[in-house]
Amino acid sequence: MTESSTNQLWGGRFNQPTDAFVQEFTASVQFDQRLYAYDIQGSIAHATMLAKVGVLTEEESKTIIAGLEEVKKEIEAGEFEWSIALEDVHMNIEKRLTDRVGDVGKKLHTGRSRNDQVATDIRLYLRDQIDAIQIELERLITGLINLAEQEADTVMPGFTHLQTAQPVTFGHHMMAWVEMLFRDRDRLADCRKRVNILPLGAAALAGTSYPIDRHLTAELLGFEGVAENSLDAVSDRDFAIEFCACSALVMTHLSRFSEELVLWCSQQFSFVTIGDAFCTGSSIMPQKKNPDVPELIRGKTGRVNGNLMSLLTLMKGQPLAYNKDNQEDKEPLFDSIDTIRGSLKAFADMAPAITVSSENMREACSKGFATATDLADYLVRKGIAFRDAHEVVGNAVATAEKQGKDIAELSLEALQNFSSVIDSDVYDVLTLEGAVAARNHIGGTAPEQVRAAVKRARAKI
Ligand code: ARG
Repeated sequence: MTESSTNQLWGGRFNQPTDAFVQEFTASVQFDQRLYAYDIQGSIAHATMLAKVGVLTEEESKTIIAGLEEVKKEIEAGEFEWSIALEDVHMNIEKRLTDRVGDVGKKLHTGRSRNDQVATDIRLYLRDQIDAIQIELERLITGLINLAEQEADTVMPGFTHLQTAQPVTFGHHMMAWVEMLFRDRDRLADCRKRVNILPLGAAALAGTSYPIDRHLTAELLGFEGVAENSLDAVSDRDFAIEFCACSALVMTHLSRFSEELVLWCSQQFSFVTIGDAFCTGSSIMPQKKNPDVPELIRGKTGRVNGNLMSLLTLMKGQPLAYNKDNQEDKEPLFDSIDTIRGSLKAFADMAPAITVSSENMREACSKGFATATDLADYLVRKGIAFRDAHEVVGNAVATAEKQGKDIAELSLEALQNFSSVIDSDVYDVLTLEGAVAARNHIGGTAPEQVRAAVKRARAKI
């Protein structure tokens, strides 16, 4: 970055140069240069519109647009020199344009302010990022649906309070995460609608006295509508806050899922293994294979939640209209974008590398009396009230526990000691397959239901 102490774009009314530290302190070009392509796209649309309404001549507009395209090439070739003295991405590009095309470049900013310009740039950028995030999200959803289908019949313990509760199918468990991620996808799609609105034309805060055509600019930029109020258009960042809230929920889901994977690949659970490509070793303990990807995603959730708090707090005290505070919107927003894109990509890449140990999960089911509820339901079907059945099964569990057995391992005579209505058909409900197959309604864990849910989910992609 080059330094100079007077700003050539707004220095007219100033007698003294900006303090060197203040110049650096108030600049945003260090982080807003990532908006360059959108800044240029917005400027091209603005120049096109200005020519259509007769504020610029066709000739002037063409020169400006060609110049902007050259500046873009320069940036992409890594030949552009960003200057702190020029404060932000907008003034860096505008100054370079004028250097290249001459005085006509100074006409680009007619009927526009950096206030509506920056709001436009962020919306264009965020719109593209949401689309890229949705691609990763759908890739992850697809990977989980495939896993669910593959393991539709695989039995595992379902937990409440992290205690073995009832058997479920691994496929059903995967489809629970699919449901959450579908809601995340829908939330982002809904957020995108409110992002996709044109602020340009609001100028500094009150609109402009030039005969602009905002609908034309909106159309050129692919916006679905124009912001209805100029004061609102330049000042509110609720669309960015909303995106950060959606991101916090995405990360919360990924974090919970990560926690399960970390537990499941521990020696104590041994339900799954994660491919070597997604784990790392220890420099001291040769036997270690650590689930770094899920651990790190769980950890990164903190910063994404923090970014949401930053933006809410940034906004809460601001009077209308634009305030310099808003320059602080970018880093939290960019960080949330980068973090959820990266986390979703890592998770989507990792999903096909998850291998399931059906033997270990089956063995875990047999330890926690997972079919106790099924025995109670069996007694109810034989005419016993549910509360009495609950009591009977509680006694059976206590006895089995003392003998170090599962209830399915107790003999028929032993079971009949707890209730005379028990018959040899009791063993049908005490099997894990029987227990999961019995929950055969929409939303239930039966393999048949998992396959139906997989089919419905694929239709939604
Ligand atoms: N860099 C500024 C931002 O990020 C651009 C808008 C500046 N507007 C102003 N009136 N100083 O918000």
